[in-house]
Amino acid sequence: MTDSEILDSLNKALAWELRAIAMYAHYAAYVSGIHRINLATHFNNEVTESITHAATVRSAIVKLGGKATTDRESTEIVHTSDYSVMLKEAYKTEMTASETYRGILPLIEKIGDSELYDALEVVYFDELRSVEELRMMLM
Ligand SMILES: [Fe+2]
Ligand SMILES: [Fe+2]
Repeated sequence: MTDSEILDSLNKALAWELRAIAMYAHYAAYVSGIHRINLATHFNNEVTESITHAATVRSAIVKLGGKATTDRESTEIVHTSDYSVMLKEAYKTEMTASETYRGILPLIEKIGDSELYDALEVVYFDELRSVEELRMMLM
């Protein structure tokens, strides 16, 4: 595993966070019906969390001497005002995010940077919690 392979993985994670920011901000604006009361706040909290995650990953890329992407991951953000479609899209996004970080942690472990490992593990656990929360919301 070279540093450039680690940087590619981190940039992939960063691009997914940038996409998550755009998706959740969009859904907070468009969510309609009675569930808007709770979900607009929920989606806005996810925007804030994704901004924090992006900052953590960006700092990791800087620390490793890489160039952080400013482009979001290109997977389509499904436009809808239907909360159930939004939750299903959010579930897919959180699953991908958790898988991405699960793949990154062993790479960071190999280079022996425990500070970076700890920071990214916190993000990984956040994603796992989001997956579980969405699983419950979709029941
Ligand atoms: Fe995230
Ligand atoms: Fe997330």
